[in-house]
Amino acid sequence: MPATPLRIAVFASGSGSNFQALAEAAGRGALGAEIALLVTDKPDAPVVERAQRFGIDVFAFRAKAYPSREAYEAEIVAKLREADIGLIVLAGYMRLITDVLVAPYYGRMINIHPALLPAFPGVRAIRQALEYGVKLTGATVHFVDGGMDSGPIIAQRAVEIRGDDTEETLAERVHAVEHALLPEAVRWIAEGRVALNGRIVTVRR
Ligand code: GAR
Repeated sequence: MPATPLRIAVFASGSGSNFQALAEAAGRGALGAEIALLVTDKPDAPVVERAQRFGIDVFAFRAKAYPSREAYEAEIVAKLREADIGLIVLAGYMRLITDVLVAPYYGRMINIHPALLPAFPGVRAIRQALEYGVKLTGATVHFVDGGMDSGPIIAQRAVEIRGDDTEETLAERVHAVEHALLPEAVRWIAEGRVALNGRIVTVRR
């Protein structure tokens, strides 16, 4: 591991169970990185309390207070630079992202999505998979490219769909997979084992 650990900013809008999984992994020394900042567009979201419990700095904003998406993203970029952030992890950040954020952090910004991309991008991916009738779904970690869940794929793990699954029972198993997969992918990046070449991501084992 490098002498100065990689400094991460996690972006989240809701419950923050993935944030929690990352923070716990960091606490066990299993992340190879340090969570330096939580960025949220929902100042009242449960994830804020989780960050406070871990003593992690929070930048919370309300999109409505800014004239445009680009305007709040410019402020976020300033915060990221101030905190010397080397990797952005989107973990349930429910906002579209513009070039203001993507351009300076391309290859250094990843997202977790609760489906096997490119199937079921966008919102309610777990419900989309159930309603479509696929027998396998899962979780994907990918680099962010400004499209909707469309960037180069780093890691995927499958979850079988059972005949009696509801959105809740399936979500429980998909989330359990996410909570293992996301910290693992972050560790690979922190250890310098991930190479990005066009759409193709290679992970050195
Ligand atoms: C996670 O399942 C994540 O994959 C999903 O939001 C949930 C956030 O849960 N993200 C997306 O759907 C992005 N398109 P959490 O707040 O408990 O981590």
